[in-house]
Amino acid sequence: MNVYTLITGASTGIGKALAADFAASGDNLVLVARSRDRLEELAAELHRKHGVDVRVCSQDLGRAEGPASVFAFCADERLVIDKLVNCAGFSVAGKFAVMPPEELHQMAMVNMVAVGGLTRLFLPAMIGRGRGAVVNIASLAGFQGVPGMAYYSATKAFVVNLTEALTEELRGTGVRIYAVCPGFIDNDQFYNRAGHDRSRIITPISSLSVVVKAVRRGLAGASIHELPTLFDRMMVFSQRLVPRSLVVRIAGIFAGAKE
Ligand SMILES: NC(=O)c1ccc[n+]([C@@H]2O[C@H](COP(=O)([O-])OP(=O)(O)OC[C@H]3O[C@@H](n4cnc5c(N)ncnc54)[C@H](OP(=O)(O)O)[C@@H]3O)[C@@H](O)[C@H]2O)c1
Repeated sequence: MNVYTLITGASTGIGKALAADFAASGDNLVLVARSRDRLEELAAELHRKHGVDVRVCSQDLGRAEGPASVFAFCADERLVIDKLVNCAGFSVAGKFAVMPPEELHQMAMVNMVAVGGLTRLFLPAMIGRGRGAVVNIASLAGFQGVPGMAYYSATKAFVVNLTEALTEELRGTGVRIYAVCPGFIDNDQFYNRAGHDRSRIITPISSLSVVVKAVRRGLAGASIHELPTLFDRMMVFSQRLVPRSLVVRIAGIFAGAKE
């Protein structure tokens, strides 16, 4: 059986780091993003280093047909997807009221619609085989609204809630689903795309490797959320002790993304 791990957003940052980690563990890969050149370069490198088969599926997940095109690519190539890692996503920093509506639409398509669509398409075969995993890269921003990142935090709340509900729907099927919820990560590509001045962020900024470790922990464990660092866990826990309005205000100050 041609068993593969499919990773969206594999051309840079967290997705690229995850691709390297899965390849090092011997997984064959399907890499998805728009940047074909970057994916092909990475595929060649991972094949050379680890001897695994790496396929490139260049797709724009901001298009409504994106998830179905990825699914069709795998079906045409007879690839069995055993792990789906929904990592593609982006943020735009600033005041919601002045954001270009098309940017908001694209964010919704990539961060939410594609995550739901790909999960819906690949789950039935995993359930049928009685094994598999869906790893959703959400964010600490999904646990409360973040002023200055309002729409982004809402898209990540969607991912957290979808994942939570599916953990229960998938109980007993042999298929695992969980959300990895990092705080800020050291990846300029993400901040540049978002127009987010990272010097204004006043929480710790973690390395890509903490997310990779959290994904690994999640695969071996049973939790619904993987919070990569102690700080992330403290942030979520402390929400129980503080009025909601204060949680939101603090999140905005910590993120420093309002202007
Ligand atoms: N960096 C952080 O601080 C942080 C913290 C918490 C959560 N996260 C989440 O982690 C995930 C990865 O972020 P990152 O830091 O690795 O950012 P990144 O380096 O900017 O990577 C984003 C990835 O998504 C892909 N992507 C964006 N738009 C796409 C589209 N329309 N169609 C297909 N692929 C698309 C990009 O590829 P192409 O441009 O080649 O299409 C790229 O591979 C995101 O979901 C993000 O929300 C990031």
